[in-house]
Amino acid sequence: MNSGNVIYNRRLKAGDYHLALRLPTGFADPLPGQFVMLRTTAPAPLLSRPFSVYRFTRHRGHVVLELLYRVVGGGTKLFSQMPSGTEVKVLGPLGRGFRIGRAVRNHVLIAGGMGIAPISFLAEFLQQTMGREKGMTFCLGAKSSDDFVGLERLEEIGGHFHIATDDGTLGTCGLVTDMLPGLAAGWNPRVTSLYVCGPPGMLRSLAACLPAGIPCQVSMEARMACGLGACLGCAISTVTRRNKIVKKTVCRDGPVFDLREICWEAL
Ligand code: FES
Repeated sequence: MNSGNVIYNRRLKAGDYHLALRLPTGFADPLPGQFVMLRTTAPAPLLSRPFSVYRFTRHRGHVVLELLYRVVGGGTKLFSQMPSGTEVKVLGPLGRGFRIGRAVRNHVLIAGGMGIAPISFLAEFLQQTMGREKGMTFCLGAKSSDDFVGLERLEEIGGHFHIATDDGTLGTCGLVTDMLPGLAAGWNPRVTSLYVCGPPGMLRSLAACLPAGIPCQVSMEARMACGLGACLGCAISTVTRRNKIVKKTVCRDGPVFDLREICWEAL
């Protein structure tokens, strides 16, 4: 567990926030898709909450960890009230992130809602590590244009963009998953990989509509208490290649899983 301090905790829009933390240099470099457990000590001790990594940078004498989050309950509301300088405890980086195949030429990054945070971190990682001949495609969805956060950052990174909103205020009117079967028709499964992060309903729809043969990894959300595989509070049902149902923990075995490994009907 590392101790750190809030550098800034900016309100972006409505209940969405951008939090930057200063941590000691001993904090390990996170991989795309990994998360941290964050806890404050004031105004009252809180249970830890999981957050996906949005950005991470090393500086002389410290590192900066950035997170995006949406206020969805009492815990995140307290986080939103942390001023600069607040002391925090950070456990991580935790979990298994996205696996990136060497043969992949067509990286398709799909995000719904705040899933844009880990997808941005992955995009930055791919930008730094992949050759020029490889490309990134972004498929992004939200309820409305006002619900998008972090879009500018992805535009800086660059790629092909496909955007959908439920109310049609930005991009196509509809769900981001509606556009996938049409796009997938032009993708070569042998060199394509999909990376997805979004609300459970979106992941379930994707599982129902994705054409067979296209590799797809999804980052799962779950309530987490320990973040270490000890309490089993985040266990989900998965299916093996031999069709056996096996319980796995989102925090330690995931949060990233093969889409076809998840028992969607059991969630
Ligand atoms: Fe305790 Fe995953 S949060 S096992």
